[in-house]
Amino acid sequence: MYQTLLTSLEDNILIITINRPDKMNAINNTVMTELAAVIDEVYSNDDVRSAIITGAGTKAFVAGADITEFLGLTIEEGNALAKKGQDTFQKIEDCPKPVVAAVNGFALGGGHELAMACHIRVASENAKFGQPEVNLGLLPGYGGTQRLVQLIGKGRAIEMMITANMIDANTALQYGLVNHVVPQEELLNKAKSILAISNSKAPLAIAKCIEAANAVFDETKNGYEVEMTGFGNCFGTEDMKEGTAAFLEKRKAAFKGK
Ligand code: COA
Repeated sequence: MYQTLLTSLEDNILIITINRPDKMNAINNTVMTELAAVIDEVYSNDDVRSAIITGAGTKAFVAGADITEFLGLTIEEGNALAKKGQDTFQKIEDCPKPVVAAVNGFALGGGHELAMACHIRVASENAKFGQPEVNLGLLPGYGGTQRLVQLIGKGRAIEMMITANMIDANTALQYGLVNHVVPQEELLNKAKSILAISNSKAPLAIAKCIEAANAVFDETKNGYEVEMTGFGNCFGTEDMKEGTAAFLEKRKAAFKGK
């Protein structure tokens, strides 16, 4: 049981809802701790094949880190806050099971960084995206400076960060920040429909796709090597034998994640 998150498992998709709607679902210390715990659950629970992260209510996905917790922090405490956020969001990005952000309203600051740490973003028409930290005398601290450049390019990313201007859902679509924009009432179904497809595919191969895509942005890794090793290892899996046999026998594959 979580204090600040709601979870429900539907068709092997863990739906994680950040539940502080009266505070625009702002990420306080408890939310961050619980996000790390729920992602551990996504990693370890065999019944969970993929996850959706969304915000409670119709106004906000997450309107940022909880600004009330910033007051009076020292430099060291500021570093520790960023470290905890970066580590938690890295765990999301590294998750071997697909994680979709269903952005149902404001995704600002740490909320935008959370959405960017997910593998895929889908947005409702009212969604707004921004990194308003410079309004507070800060910069993004949960990986946002890095992932925003990766996702939309340096010029657009720096403009967003130095102006604190928000972009709307259609601009986010045009920038490639989100994959789809849909009416709010269709948002969760859109996210679920993408994951229903990926949940029917070979889980170990999916994990390798994510790992190889992440390696593009990891200077300690050679992405082509990660791809090659992943590809080779798949030949040792039951699922690869099943997938190829099913194709040749003109039937639907039944993958086991083995
Ligand atoms: N941290 C703490 N509380 C927050 C918050 C945040 N990041 N974002 C919103 N809230 C709180 C507000 O203080 C308010 O609380 P109150 O009712 O106790 O006064 C409540 O959520 C509702 O927000 P409100 O500002 O009244 O709603 P709005 O519709 O007028 O504006 C936003 C919505 C998102 C534009 C506005 O809340 C905002 O700019 N939030 C801060 C965004 C930000 O700078 N994030 C980066 C943090 S690093």
